[in-house]
Parts: sequence; C-alpha cells; structure tokens
Amino acid sequence: MARLSMRKADLHASPVREMLSVAQRPGVISFAGGLPSPETFAGLDLPPPPQALLQYGPTEGEPDLRGEIAKELTALGIDAPAERILVLSGSQQGIDLVAKLVVDPGVGVAVESPAYLAALQVFRFFGARFEILDRAAPAAGWDEAAPALAYVTPTFQNPTGQCWTTAERLAMARACDAHDVILFEDDPYRDLAYEPCDRRPVSADLKSASWIYQGSFSKTVAPGLRLGFLTASEDLFPYLVRLKQAADLHTNRLSQWMVLQYLTDPDREARMARVVDLYRRKRDVFAEALTRHLGDRAAWTTPPGGLFFWLTLADGVDTEALLKRALERNVLFTPGSHFLAQGGASSTLRLNFSLAAPEAAERGLKVLGALLREG
Ligand SMILES: Cc1ncc(COP(=O)(O)O)c(C=O)c1O
Repeated sequence: MARLSMRKADLHASPVREMLSVAQRPGVISFAGGLPSPETFAGLDLPPPPQALLQYGPTEGEPDLRGEIAKELTALGIDAPAERILVLSGSQQGIDLVAKLVVDPGVGVAVESPAYLAALQVFRFFGARFEILDRAAPAAGWDEAAPALAYVTPTFQNPTGQCWTTAERLAMARACDAHDVILFEDDPYRDLAYEPCDRRPVSADLKSASWIYQGSFSKTVAPGLRLGFLTASEDLFPYLVRLKQAADLHTNRLSQWMVLQYLTDPDREARMARVVDLYRRKRDVFAEALTRHLGDRAAWTTPPGGLFFWLTLADGVDTEALLKRALERNVLFTPGSHFLAQGGASSTLRLNFSLAAPEAAERGLKVLGALLREG
C-alpha cells in the first residue's frame, strides 16, 4: 500500500467536479456550475500571441498586465502598486496559496454561511476550524478568540448573489483592524452588476490589518484561460509569491497576453456593457420562470449581480434527495448543503442562470416544480 500524507484523509472528491461531469451528458439541463454563457465569448476576437511568450516568464506575472491590473485596483481605493500584483492561474489558486500561508490544523477561519464551496474545501483540507461570520456583527466573539483569517465575498456572493451594505463593509474592516484578523476578500463577480450596489472593496478601508484581495477574469473574459490575480499587504505578498513559485512557477503567458489585449481593447467597456445586459435579461427571464414553476414552493431574492439564485424550499424539503430525483429527469442543480461550513442537511439550493438557454431554463424549472408538487 502506497504511503501517503495525513492530509490525504481530507481529500474528498469535489461534488462540483462530479456534477459537472454529469452536466456533459447530452440532454442534461444544468443549473449546477458557475459557467458563463458561451455567448459572451463570441465578442472576444483575440489575435495569436507573440512567439517570445513561449519561453518561461516571471512568477509574479507579465509586467504590462500587472500594471493594468494595478491601475484598476488603485482606482477602487486599494493600495495595489504593480509590484504587489501576483497574476494567478485562476483565482482558485489564490485560495490555495492563502490557505497554505495561514492555515495549520485547528486554525480559526471565519466564513459566511453559506460560502463558496471550493474555498471551504481548500480550507478544510488544510485543517481549518470554521467560525460562522455574522456580517451584521463581524467581531462577535472575537474578544475571547479571534480567527486568524476571515474569508469573505461581499459583492454578489457565490452562492447567494447578495451584496453587502456600506455599513457591513465598514464593520468588517473595523473588526479585522481591531482584532488583527487577516482579511481575505474574494471578488470575482464585481463586474456582473445588474442593479446599483456599493461595491467598494472592504480591503480599501483597512487601516492596520493584513489583507489579501483577489479577482478573476473567468466571469468577464473566459474561464478556460485560467486567469486571476491577487494583491496583498506588504507583510504577506512576498510569501504568496514564493508559494506560487513552488506551485507552478508562473501563470500561462499566452493567457496573460490574451487578457492584456482584452484589458486594453478600446471596445472593452462596450463589450462588458453587452455582457451585463445579456446576463440581466437572462436573470429576469429566469426569475419569471421561477415564479411560474416554484413560486408557491420556494423563497428567494432576485440577485443584484453575479450568476446565481439562492432558493429556500418550503416544508423543509431535503435538496440532496431532490437532486437524486431531478437527475433522473436530466436536471442538475447544486444542493445548498455543499455551501455550509457546518455541514448538515438543508432545504436550500443554488441555481445558475447564466448557462442554460431560456427554453432549457423553462423546461428545467418546470421539472423541479413538478417534482416538488409530486412530494
Ligand atoms: C467566489 C469564487 N471565488 C473563486 C472562484 C474561482 O474562480 P477562477 O479560478 O475561475 O478565477 C469562483 C468560481 O466560481 C468563485 O465563485
């Protein structure tokens, strides 16, 4: 028997990976992943990259790309000079690097409930002890024992789509400053804004706490490029670069070049406006279909941004059991239990509205409504 690390005990198959493999089956209607609509890729017409980029590159990323990212983050109020931008192989990598830097077995990590399931998975893998964050009173209980890290997605959260208020953002910043808690702000959905909402990064309002802020081009350009970035306070940044170097030397230079073309394209703003319009329309059509088919069986709030609806079903229906029945009818969604740090059964579920075409969404939601009525 091969001798493997103790960490292996926490290495469970990702529920999302497994569901996504089912989603590839012909005829399946998937509300499960966080996949952007392929319609949005059509507006990208990227020329082939120069040959020189086939060589190894710097761990931190391509200087021009770092410069563009720094400009944008600085405009958001974040202290992010180009020297403190680290280009990532997708922002999922940022979660791995931060967990490696901060989390030893038993270390406290404050998370929202629900929270992004693949972040919970990584923190769990490194042995985190989760504490549930109440964003109305983020420092509750921190006088006795503060966590090492607070992981938050204040803008169009995955899975709820919610956007924190200005007061909640400021309270979070004050709490981290007062208790010396590292803030880890994950912000991949900020550009997918369908309604006005304060999107000022919490990281911009910190005075003394250490922090990491990260973003992604997966939802605005294309997830297959695997391109994300982070910036961090001066005390943390050099360690994150060394961890990145150990993980993969540097991010794919061809993808970096493509994203740089996108960022500097004069049509960028107009293209992004078209993407946002497309998603707003898809969200609204989805909301109407939801009302028609699940209006008497579920409660939800229409999300002001992002890619998901978060539903709570009436009568305590267990959504893991519902998924088994939905799969028999070729409909896929993500049960809410996967997003709960504390685990346990749940009558919540996450529905992605960006991928399915309107007719497919209509059919899929009709199936879910019928299953709920069958009981
Ligand atoms: C909150 C959050 N963080 C990070 C990621 C990872 O994104 P990527 O690695 O594609 O940048 C996702 C993807 O869905 C997400 O929802």
